[in-house]
Amino acid sequence: MEILKMKDIVKTYQMGEEDQIVLKDIDLIINKGDFVSILGPSGSGKTTLMNIIGCLDVQTSGSYVLNNQEVDDLDESELAQIRNKEIGFVFQQFQLLQRLSALQNVELPLIYAKIPSKLRKEKAKEMLERVGLSEKVNSRPTQLSGGEQQRVAIARAMVTKPTILLADEPTGALDQKTGEQIMQLFTELNKEGKTIIMITHDEKIAKYASTRINILDGELTEVKYND
Ligand SMILES: Nc1ncnc2c1ncn2[C@@H]1O[C@H](COP(=O)(O)OP(=O)(O)O)[C@@H](O)[C@H]1O
Ligand SMILES: [Mg+2]
Repeated sequence: MEILKMKDIVKTYQMGEEDQIVLKDIDLIINKGDFVSILGPSGSGKTTLMNIIGCLDVQTSGSYVLNNQEVDDLDESELAQIRNKEIGFVFQQFQLLQRLSALQNVELPLIYAKIPSKLRKEKAKEMLERVGLSEKVNSRPTQLSGGEQQRVAIARAMVTKPTILLADEPTGALDQKTGEQIMQLFTELNKEGKTIIMITHDEKIAKYASTRINILDGELTEVKYND
């Protein structure tokens, strides 16, 4: 089942007098249950593409359909609604709130979704257990290692059961071994049915995905199915 379909997506930024074309006619289809890596060098347009996939930004032209909804001409609040429902974000720098415990960080999206407090705590705890952090629910980010902080961020991204887990350089701030442990977790979550789109510039990390897409200078250059 198609979960994401892009057709002729173009993104330009105005740079003084000139337009800089950052994404050039991107065509992309991702199916439910896929684990896709988008691999490309710095400046190739990865984050720009991720921002459009994640409804944090809109394309300049072209069509984007996410879970049967046309994402185009939406206002900020409609965009935010789709984003909250469909996408769980994981970032390179974890983006946890330092003053909150692991549990409170994971609870945050459930507060936005207006889930009552008791149920919220149950769901957040369950998700922290799922990522292997049942002992750390009351720890703050500063008391956790990088790998543990990324696990909290993954629990936060997953707790609302989004359609897509979308990760921008999720291992970029981690050492090789910790990065591979995070990839093992992604692999497990994908086996449980989660659709994952992961952006990386690391060849070794891209190999964990089942499909690899290369991006260069704003163009998708190769789609390869890993064995
Ligand atoms: N908000 C912006 N305004 C102008 N140019 C931008 C903006 N965001 C990104 N760019 C440019 O778009 C290109 C791609 O950037 P980006 O998507 O961040 O690449 P990557 O994530 O692959 O490093 C770069 O040349 C960058 O300078
Ligand atoms: Mg980037």
